[in-house]
Amino acid sequence: MLRIIKRRARALLRPETSLHRGQILPEKNLRFGGVHFLDDEAFLSAGESDARRLMEWCGLTRESALLDIGCGTGRLPIGILSVLGLIRRYQGIDVNETAVDWCARHITPLHPSFRFLRINVQNERYNPSGKAVEENFRLPVPEHSFDLIHLYSVFSHMRSPDIQAYLREFARLITPKGSVFLTAFVEDNVSGEEENPADGGRQWKGALHCVRFSKTFFTAMISRAGLVIARESHGTETDGQSAFVLRKA
Ligand SMILES: C[S@@+](CC[C@H](N)C(=O)[O-])C[C@H]1O[C@@H](n2cnc3c(N)ncnc32)[C@H](O)[C@@H]1O
Repeated sequence: MLRIIKRRARALLRPETSLHRGQILPEKNLRFGGVHFLDDEAFLSAGESDARRLMEWCGLTRESALLDIGCGTGRLPIGILSVLGLIRRYQGIDVNETAVDWCARHITPLHPSFRFLRINVQNERYNPSGKAVEENFRLPVPEHSFDLIHLYSVFSHMRSPDIQAYLREFARLITPKGSVFLTAFVEDNVSGEEENPADGGRQWKGALHCVRFSKTFFTAMISRAGLVIARESHGTETDGQSAFVLRKA
């Protein structure tokens, strides 16, 4: 209760939204993804181009059911609303309470098929006091119910045991012809898994800032989950991440 009162008081003192090209955006201090997204146009147009790519690469339409894991403060759903409008079902999930709370208060009331859920899963960077992912991990959504699962810049901040558990879930949650779009740091000729690697030409700061995998290691996790890589774009995403589309094997 006290937390809600504090949050409302903060919102009165400092606005939580800005309006850009007709879309409600999170205020700058609530955005994930680096300094680049402090600019309203950069934030909105990045969400729009991710939405267009999902339409082109993964067949996203107004009839689709989409699960957006690590939705942050709504960059993708805002982009979808701008380029496509309402879709049949959008479910955002995140471990970060502030992010989910912002989306639930500023997106769902205007667009009821866009829903947000906070899960208390541990992530050393985003939710250190959460519950560790266990062997029998399940995401709290119905199975075979999503045409598409999306994770932008999420596996880039997770270690392999958690990623393996999530990938196993994806095979259970997508429809038989469904797909998964994700980004991750994946390179040839590097060690299997490394946190904040020193040889990437960038100074990473803090826990799980960058978790990088070798292509062999990453592909093995995908096939263990009963999935295959259907499309890949190397090094084209934030900070040099690669984009992957996965389907059921
Ligand atoms: C770099 S941000 C990306 C946010 C958003 N996908 C975007 O591209 O704007 C990473 C997001 O992943 C979320 N996250 C980290 N670990 C997670 C987990 N195990 N399950 C769900 N979300 C997670 C964080 O809370 C954060 O919102």
